[in-house]
Amino acid sequence: MITRRRPPLCEVSPAAAAGLSCVLLLAGLCSAADPVAQFNWEVTYITIAPLGISQQVIAINGQFPGPVLNLTTNWNAVVNVTNNIDEDFLFTWNGIQLRRNSWQDGVTGTNCPIPAGQSWSYNFQVKDQIGSFFYFPSLNLQRAAGGFGGIVVNNRSVVPLPFPVPSGDITLFIGDWFNKNHKDLRKELDGGNELGAPDGVLINGRGPYRHNESLVPPGIDFETVNVEPGKAYRFRVHNVGSFTSLNFRIQSHNLLLVETEGSYTVQQNYTDFDIHVGQSVSFLVSTDQNPVSDYYIAATPRFLNGSDWIRLAGVAVLHYSTSQAKPSGPLPNPPDDQFYKEYSMNQARSVRAAINGISYSPPDTPLRLADYANITGIYDLDFPVNPPAETEAPRMVASVINATYRHFVEIVFQNNDSIIQTYHLDGHSFFVVGMAYGEWTENSRSSYNKWDAVSRSTVQVYPGAWTSVLVMLDNVGIWNLRAGSLDRWYLGQEAYVRIVNPEPNNRTELPIPSNALYCGKAKDPECVCSSH
Ligand SMILES: *[C@@H]1O[C@H](CO)[C@@H](O)[C@H](O)[C@H]1NC(C)=O
Ligand SMILES: *[C@@H]1O[C@H](CO)[C@@H](O)[C@H](O)[C@H]1NC(C)=O
Ligand SMILES: *[C@@H]1O[C@H](CO)[C@@H](O)[C@H](O)[C@H]1NC(C)=O
Ligand SMILES: *[C@@H]1O[C@H](CO)[C@@H](O)[C@H](O)[C@H]1NC(C)=O
Ligand SMILES: *[C@@H]1O[C@H](CO)[C@@H](O)[C@H](O)[C@H]1NC(C)=O
Ligand SMILES: *[C@@H]1O[C@H](CO)[C@@H](O)[C@H](O)[C@H]1NC(C)=O
Ligand SMILES: *[C@@H]1O[C@H](CO)[C@@H](O)[C@H](O)[C@H]1NC(C)=O
Ligand SMILES: *[C@@H]1O[C@H](CO)[C@@H](O)[C@H](O)[C@H]1NC(C)=O
Ligand SMILES: *[C@@H]1O[C@H](CO)[C@@H](O)[C@H](O)[C@H]1NC(C)=O
Ligand SMILES: *[C@@H]1O[C@H](CO)[C@@H](O)[C@H](O)[C@H]1NC(C)=O
Repeated sequence: MITRRRPPLCEVSPAAAAGLSCVLLLAGLCSAADPVAQFNWEVTYITIAPLGISQQVIAINGQFPGPVLNLTTNWNAVVNVTNNIDEDFLFTWNGIQLRRNSWQDGVTGTNCPIPAGQSWSYNFQVKDQIGSFFYFPSLNLQRAAGGFGGIVVNNRSVVPLPFPVPSGDITLFIGDWFNKNHKDLRKELDGGNELGAPDGVLINGRGPYRHNESLVPPGIDFETVNVEPGKAYRFRVHNVGSFTSLNFRIQSHNLLLVETEGSYTVQQNYTDFDIHVGQSVSFLVSTDQNPVSDYYIAATPRFLNGSDWIRLAGVAVLHYSTSQAKPSGPLPNPPDDQFYKEYSMNQARSVRAAINGISYSPPDTPLRLADYANITGIYDLDFPVNPPAETEAPRMVASVINATYRHFVEIVFQNNDSIIQTYHLDGHSFFVVGMAYGEWTENSRSSYNKWDAVSRSTVQVYPGAWTSVLVMLDNVGIWNLRAGSLDRWYLGQEAYVRIVNPEPNNRTELPIPSNALYCGKAKDPECVCSSH
């Protein structure tokens, strides 16, 4: 069994705490022609009752979900985060490739946390990207309490969309939800317990529409999406939950898939679509149904027996401007292949939260900062190439993957567990070249799709199956590879990939930001430290 890793304890130097302004300093590093968008975000707790039970939720500028970071390709974002909750805090930018700039990734391997009561400005460019992504708190299971929001990277005017310009742009966050807050959930995991079944599924931070009077109590605030008849809307849907794969559908409407995490896909219609934890997809939805009534938008847990999914259903309302009636009838059914003999929501989850026998244990000093400050002994570049024997106990260490700059690597995720897993790599997207049931062998390579493999940053691995990805390691820095399931990630199912240019220069990696926070063994060079 894996016990909880220690949270990093960080000291912040007085100079960093004084909050040096980075905006002007860093502006010189980006192409001067690219606009800078400034955001000021205050992170606080608010008390709401999405499922009818009051609880503490993490809000940004009082909003839950947080504001959309609306950018355009090549823009620079300066996000000044003021941490007014009672714990260390960091945001990470899921799917944003942060070219040359792992300094801004906001995970324990790259950044010292922002201490309670302090501000810190992120500064990054969305270089050459388009599409739909989301941000979330990366520390200590805080994502289970909210703090997430959308990132939209619009196309530049010179690069048209591969479909007609939609009449509207709608961001939906779907995700499993617990009535306990992140601190209580942490206690469960720290005590060696499972999180168990979630209490429901939220859509945009709201509980289900009362589609069934015996299942949904009265007085629950639900999400309404307003549309006009005869138009096409872009829906950007993100699974921001802790671990539940969700099936997304809109009653009587087709979902035309157009994008997965920043890559345009071959356009295809679906009546429903599975979105796994950490994944983002865009659909075009034509409002071509009878416009005198409303329709259900449903997000329901996948891989549950029989009609169990309906108990936890997330339900919002698609409201036509001309509608005179509420949505009616039963919720649209999920696909009927969701018959997983071994699976149950309450089944004990594996406590072996490790990748290749390594349960990542974050050192006090972020890895990237240790490299910068020439501090050795913080981590070992000894991440094993293959999984250990099943009898070998996982180790809790800071073991890092020694990657070679500009090499292609093949990563095979083998899921011997009974539940679906997702994996995400920061700083890159990868080509999903194969997935199949059974055990991966060298022969599996013959089945790879080397022609039109989809490129994305979060991939699912089905139980008893493998998924293979190819990734070009062309982004210098230290990058987080993690389980999408929040509980697994919290328990150490992550690794870092270290990509070093043998000839370091500031064209392949940006210099350390002037406002960098220091912690652990790394001391601020600007700091004239009088005591301790
Ligand atoms: C960030 O926001 C805080 C709180 O509003 C403010 O005090 C601080 O000056 C801002 N920092 C920068 C660099 O803009
Ligand atoms: C987001 O940015 C795009 C491009 O600048 C703009 O057209 C759109 O109105 C913005 N959306 C919101 C919600 O501000
Ligand atoms: C994106 O492309 C469309 C044409 O497909 C154009 O109308 C729109 O203005 C572009 N977006 C931006 C932000 O320039
Ligand atoms: C409401 O849900 C209950 C429990 O699942 C079910 O027995 C009942 O048929 C549902 N009612 C409607 C109107 O769908
Ligand atoms: C998808 O379905 C819509 C109707 O909702 C239809 O107009 C369109 O042609 C279909 N597109 C594809 C690529 O099948
Ligand atoms: C799911 O259905 C299968 C087949 O009917 C059954 O064997 C299994 O016990 C069920 N699991 C749960 C959790 O109900
Ligand atoms: C780290 O070592 C390199 C090579 O010896 C040196 O150039 C660099 O200045 C050192 N960095 C710091 C922050 O001391
Ligand atoms: C890491 O890989 C590089 C080649 O890319 C090699 O030169 C170096 O010795 C390796 N370091 C360790 C500690 O294995
Ligand atoms: C997965 O299971 C197979 C057969 O049960 C076993 O041979 C293999 O070593 C396991 N792989 C991992 C990574 O545990
Ligand atoms: C980048 O490196 C060049 C030469 O190596 C140096 O002249 C320049 O000042 C550096 N720029 C920054 C922003 O550090």
